[in-house]
Formats: sequence, C-alpha cells, structure tokens
Amino acid sequence: MGLTVTEEPDLRDTEDNLMSLAQRAEFNAVTEKENHTVSEKVYIFDTTLRDAEQTPGAALNLEEKLEIAKHLAKLKVDIIEAGFPVSSPGDFDAVTRISNEVEGPEICALSRVVEKDITAAWGAIKDAQKPRIHTFVGTSPIHRERITRTSPEETLQMAINAVTYAKSLSAGHPGAVVEFSPMDAGRTELSYLYEVVEATIAAGATIVNIPETVGWTVPAEFGKLIADIKANVPNIDQAIISVHCHNDLGLAVANSLEAIENGARQVECTINGLGERAGNTALEEIVMAIRTRRDYFSDYYTDINTKEIVPISRRVSRTMGISVQPNKAIVGANAFAHSSGIHQDGVIKQRNTFEIIDPADVGWQESQIILSPRSGRNALRHRLNALGYEVTPEQIEKIYERFLKIADKKKEVHDADLEAIMRDEVRSIPEVFQLKYIQVVSGTRISPTTTVGVRTEAGIIEAASTGDGPVDAAYKAIDRIAKIPLLLADYNIRAVTEGKDAIGEVTIRVQDNGHVIIGHGASTDIIEASAKAYINAINKIVNLRYEE
Ligand code: KIV
Ligand code: ZN
Repeated sequence: MGLTVTEEPDLRDTEDNLMSLAQRAEFNAVTEKENHTVSEKVYIFDTTLRDAEQTPGAALNLEEKLEIAKHLAKLKVDIIEAGFPVSSPGDFDAVTRISNEVEGPEICALSRVVEKDITAAWGAIKDAQKPRIHTFVGTSPIHRERITRTSPEETLQMAINAVTYAKSLSAGHPGAVVEFSPMDAGRTELSYLYEVVEATIAAGATIVNIPETVGWTVPAEFGKLIADIKANVPNIDQAIISVHCHNDLGLAVANSLEAIENGARQVECTINGLGERAGNTALEEIVMAIRTRRDYFSDYYTDINTKEIVPISRRVSRTMGISVQPNKAIVGANAFAHSSGIHQDGVIKQRNTFEIIDPADVGWQESQIILSPRSGRNALRHRLNALGYEVTPEQIEKIYERFLKIADKKKEVHDADLEAIMRDEVRSIPEVFQLKYIQVVSGTRISPTTTVGVRTEAGIIEAASTGDGPVDAAYKAIDRIAKIPLLLADYNIRAVTEGKDAIGEVTIRVQDNGHVIIGHGASTDIIEASAKAYINAINKIVNLRYEE
C-alpha cells in the first residue's frame, strides 16, 4: 500500500471525525494539492477505442478513432489502448495513425498470445513515443478447456513465449513496455494464477493486468484476490498491478476501487463505462470517486484533467451513437439536476447541500455565448473550440454556411445546435451520396410521397416513392438511387434543443452483410434529418466495402 498521511485525522471512523460537507470539500481541495507528494498515482488506462469499440454497432472509422484519441490525450489519460491491430487492416491503420499523431499518453495495442498478433501490434505502435504491447490469454479452466483447448502447462508456455517475443520485438525502443493479462483471472485457480503472473513478469512484463472478464467477483473478493497476488507472487514488486473489470453485476467501479486499496496502481476503464456486454469500469466514476473522496482515498491520485470528462463523454456518445442514460453518475443529463422543491431550495442556499461535486469541475458548463445570424466565423470557431472541436480553415467555411442556415431559422444557436451541426457536417467519411433536396407530399387522405435529389458520382439523381409515412417514402426513394438494400434495425429521433424550431437528430442502425452500421442526420426538419441519417449509413457502407 502507498504511504499514509499520518498527520491527517482519520475521517472515516468515529462520530467526532464527522465533518460537514463544506469542511470535507475544503479538506479535499487542500489535500488534493498537498498529498501528491505523499500519495501514489493510479494510472488510468483507457480502453474506449478497444473494449468499448467492441460494443455492437459502436464501430468507428479511422478519423473518428483519431479524434477520440486526441481528446483522450487532452483528458490526460496515461495509456490509450488504441485497438487490436491484427483484427483488421482498418484497425491496424487506426492504431498506426494514433501512434504517429497523438502525443502524451502511452499508445497500447492488443494481441492474443500469437506471434502474428504480436507482430501486427508492434508494427502498428513502433513509432509511438511510448508504445505498449498488451498480450493476453484466457487462464481459467473454462477458457483453457473451451477456447484455447490447451492444458495449464501449455497455456503458461504460450503466455511466456508471447511476452518474450513482445519484449524481443520492442527491445530497441527505449520507451516500450509489455503488459500481460491472464484473461478471466477472477475464475482462475489461485495457485495457477500466481504461477502465470510470476512467469510473465520473469519473461519481461512490467504491467500485469488482472481482468475480471465476466464481472463475476464481488468487491471484497476481488480486493482479496489482488492482496493475495501481492502477497504470493515473489517478483510482484517488478511490475505494476493493473485491473480490468466488467460490469455484469454492476460492480466494475466498486471492484476497481477495492483493487486499488489492495495494491492495484493501474485501472483499465472506458468513457461512459462502455464495453463488451454491460461494459467496463467507467473512467469518470473511478476518477471522481478518488478525487471527490480524497478524505477516504488519501493515498491515491490520478492525473486526469477532470474538466474534459463531460466533453469527452459527449463526444464518445455521439460518435458511437450510444446515448448516456440520464441518471448516469457524473455525465448523465440528470447527474446535477435537482427537481424536488427541498433539493432546489437547498442547492440555492448552498450548492453542496445536495451536490458532492461541483459540476464545473467535470466540465458541465452552460453556454456563455449564444450565437446568432450576426455572429461571424471567429465567434463560431471560438465556441467550437470551447466545445472541444478543432476545425481547419476549410472546415469552418462549410460549417459556417450550415450554421447560418440554422441561425436564420432559429435566431439563437445554442451549444447543442452546434454539436448537432458538427455531428452531421464533420463526418470524415467520403460522401459518395449527398442529399441535395427533399420534398414531401403528405396528409391524412393521401399516400405520403417523398421526392429526393441526391448528388452521386454521375450527378444529381432524382427519385420519388410512396411509403407508409414520409420517412419510409424517403428511404424507398433513396434506395432507388443508391441501390444498396438495407435492413433498418432501429430508428431514433431526439430534439437536441427546446422549442418548435429545435434541431432534430436522427440516429439509425442498419444491417448490411452482418455489419451493424450507425447513421446520423440532423436538421430542423425531421424528414430531412431522417434522410440524411440514411444516406450517412449508406456512405459508411460504401466506405466499408472499399476498405474490405
Ligand atoms: O475483458 C477482458 O478480459 C479483456 C482482456 C483482453 C484484457 O478485455
Ligand atoms: Zn474487457
């Protein structure tokens, strides 16, 4: 365990030690700065671009991954797990670009304990300033017997060989490190787990990650597992213990916190807690638990720039097309909303009567500048920068044109409108199809008919169709032009701002040859937004086909 702060009172146990919230907040603010010299750092390893990207329908294209990686660097995560390079050429390219273009964090690539995986992982990250190969194999009986079909001895040897090979590849790079994960550690026999951890450290792994792959253990149990590893693996002091928890029982954050208290110094986590099945440890929750309860977790700190938490949560949510539940801790829309009269009264009198975190500390901010049709490009760029977007001079022209159209209709353009424009406009996929115009004839006594004009490589093509409603008619008309039959799996519309002139944002999921593709479109006209979402999905599919 790290050094304890002996001069501070123990704030947990006795009634005498009970502090008012205000005193506690003050204590936390002061000790946060002072204690960095005596407390230990918990490394934040973000796996949004790998574990969360495995969420069905959340697949990102290269530019989207790069944007998220740059934002993770701004958030000051210590390690970005950028992908699984052997899994596809697209992933290999994305990890390579991130390694070359993102400065600050270590860039990590995942690999099974297979030579070609490790070669691909190293090939993608070798030019990063601080590359990390993360190699893993299932060590639990069920994984050995049903997945790798290997004996304990063979599994152990595969792990040692993989770490040795990863070490040899990266030996010439001064900043390179190797991490090893015994997958499904929570269900692995203890003595065997010790053996695997010891042998992989001896082979050169300097980070041993203990994955709670299926979210099986409960906090006290998982904490004990980490303490047992610390006590029973003779060379454990030559490595950092990391944890990687899944949320199948809703315990990922609790398990990670317990692990920290028992010796883990790296936590693998994702933005918004996204990830396989029920997701992973939520970065925002683990970071804010340590920071907010500095009185309790006085031995630990992270380097996260918490003001970027809400901006990156929004970015990941919109890019992956997965909305954040309103009551989600820290980043949900209701996380700082007070509805009962008693709570509102309390917060007005003193904020911390019902708020344990200052919303501004995690980047919640109301728009200070409301843009109007009279706002110029500079004001627009300034606001976009404040929202976390960096735009090139070419992009700003396109966005400004779009902004003016919305501003003319709405008179006031809020942050949510700008975010909808950005989601819609700054799509990095080449637009093989582009909606130029749309016209709808609809009513209660006639079949709705929609006519669309779509720019294609052959010029603008017009098509019309009737349908069950104007949106269905629009989709059928677009199908006639694009000739890519799609299966619409989900259609979602939400107003991003209030009022009857609100921007409507449509998110759809379509299926194409086993791929789930997300399409987004935004407009003050919901039929136009729907058509744009459909065309956006089609463009993604065309792109995917080119890549394959
Ligand atoms: O959940 C898991 O075990 C993983 C490993 C690859 C670390 O994601
Ligand atoms: Zn995982």
